[in-house]
Amino acid sequence: MIKKYIFGDVFATDAVVCDVPCGDKLEYFSVEKDGSGYVFRAPLGGDDIVYGLGESMRGINKRGGRYVSFNTDNMHHTDDMPCMYGSHNFIVVDGAIKFGAFFDTPARAVFDIDYDGSGQICVSCEQPVAVYIVGGDSAYGIVRQFLKIIGQSYLPPLWAFGFGQSRWGYKNQKDVRRIVRKYADAGMPLDYICLDIDYMDRYIDFTVDKTRFPDMKGLVSELKDKGVRLVPIVDAGIKIEPGNAVYEEGVKKGYFCTNEEGEYFSAAVWPGMTHFPDFIQKDAREWFGRQYKFYTELGFEGFWNDMNEPAMFYSQYTKGQSGDHSGGDPLYEGGAFLSDYKKFYHNIDGKKVPHWDVHNIYGYNMTRASGEGLGNLLDRRYMLFSRSSYIGAHRYGGIWTGDNSSSWLMLRRNVTMMSGLNMCGFLYSGADTGGFVGNTTRELLLRWLAVSAFTPLMRNHSAKFTRYQECYRFRGKDDFRSILGLRYRLLPYIYSEFMKAALSCDMYIKPLAFGYPDDTRARAVEDQLLVGDSIMIAPVLEKGALERVVYLPEPMTEVRWNGKDFLTVPVTEGERNISVPLGEVVFFIRRGKLLPVGKGGMNAGQVDLADVTLLGDGKEYAQYLDDGLSKNCTSDNIKILKR
Ligand code: GLC
Repeated sequence: MIKKYIFGDVFATDAVVCDVPCGDKLEYFSVEKDGSGYVFRAPLGGDDIVYGLGESMRGINKRGGRYVSFNTDNMHHTDDMPCMYGSHNFIVVDGAIKFGAFFDTPARAVFDIDYDGSGQICVSCEQPVAVYIVGGDSAYGIVRQFLKIIGQSYLPPLWAFGFGQSRWGYKNQKDVRRIVRKYADAGMPLDYICLDIDYMDRYIDFTVDKTRFPDMKGLVSELKDKGVRLVPIVDAGIKIEPGNAVYEEGVKKGYFCTNEEGEYFSAAVWPGMTHFPDFIQKDAREWFGRQYKFYTELGFEGFWNDMNEPAMFYSQYTKGQSGDHSGGDPLYEGGAFLSDYKKFYHNIDGKKVPHWDVHNIYGYNMTRASGEGLGNLLDRRYMLFSRSSYIGAHRYGGIWTGDNSSSWLMLRRNVTMMSGLNMCGFLYSGADTGGFVGNTTRELLLRWLAVSAFTPLMRNHSAKFTRYQECYRFRGKDDFRSILGLRYRLLPYIYSEFMKAALSCDMYIKPLAFGYPDDTRARAVEDQLLVGDSIMIAPVLEKGALERVVYLPEPMTEVRWNGKDFLTVPVTEGERNISVPLGEVVFFIRRGKLLPVGKGGMNAGQVDLADVTLLGDGKEYAQYLDDGLSKNCTSDNIKILKR
């Protein structure tokens, strides 16, 4: 029940991987041609909910907001921030009439979802667009059909579901070893440490600073023996520096984006002036992917790709001008930030394509380049997450939600964004736990960990110049051990549910309403989520709160994790007040379902996925089990556990 409608000479994004038949006349929307672009309008019913738009602000229900698809590096994630790092142009209307719509265009698009209260959706696409209309009986059913046509999510290794510590500013191998030791001494589990730009020689990709990391290969293997992986950052821009082999080869082969005059376009990022690889060009993509050999030879198996909107501080054209950085309103048309995106070009099959027209698929194609490269270089699954994205990138890696801040609103948005991201294929995702900019607090970090304990990517990351937020630094370490410990006790479930969801093109995290579509009360809930098929979480998202009200659409089993035991009690449907002290987590097992919990461990390698106890009132649980590394992931790995 999916139809495709083509408007204009559409640029192939490869977001959709299945053949979808073309329809005759667009359903639900009226369409008007507006200059080179198109405007689509559809009426909404009074109570219709609009889901989707992946990484975007406001809540799960996108109604009442205006959202701009134009990948942007902006750390001001206020609720009215129109654009984020990724553009995920899929929406689902859920009311008397139900349908999904994917606006597949690599260029700027604006989603006005009843912003002015006139009761309509208005989607303006600047460039030609392929519109996919997805029919179905329920919002969830519509999403699942959509997930099938965009292809299976990337499959991370088991260790990528462990807890990771990260910070911009870990400067040398001494810092890294100390963090590993401190976590171990504190009795807190840890699976990986991210290496931010500080590991590089002057922030240049595919290099290591030899004074600060004299023996990276030795360090990688030493820590791996302790069960901790190192995950280096890789930025999009390649420093302009004769003598650097990657730069020189890129220049020689024509793998960088060019300016109007046909010279390579230059812009400043962390290493100073750089050229941007032309990821949209297949050859350049393959070339960039091959460069990861530098890292795999050092023993790295996990990576994060950054600055790939692409972010730039200024360009050869805007150097010295005010408004150089992206801090201002990125939609200010005269701003340097936007005008720079109009100043460079891609070379696609010999055709000069303005970057502006394909802006939103740049980061996606960096992820694709790395994912394909790593697929060739490694005989096992790799960890990969990126900042910028577009639908399609989910097949090669995950994403994190960028430079959030240490605030309670950001925690709430982490919760609401997770379901939107899952609707758009990005199952492997998570936020900077504790907040990136600003100073976190013990309370905020604990509550945030209690949310991230359920998200596939669970990483504590913070910016330079902010308060250090490694868990062992805070008093009352038991509370931290409790929540990190919960993650590892839940690992058999989280891993199994993720893999099953990914293999069957399903969601791992869902809004409550997707489980209880006929329950009007559940439809309005934005601070509870279904995680996997068996559980519902209801995290505390308010400062100072030690209790909260939970809505139960059906009788469930309440589970209280107190740091040692899972205390379970059957509870009735309706509203329920739960008390949640800081080091505890309360969640619910759905009726007729089971939750396998393991014995935990200090890293994922120590967790015996097969040694589980079943909680809940269900009869059987289908567990996905494998070695956590091999590429051979199929539903044959699912075993039925009976109560
Ligand atoms: C960007 C990234 C952030 C990283 C910083 C330094 O702001 O989003 O995660 O720490 O660059 O590399």
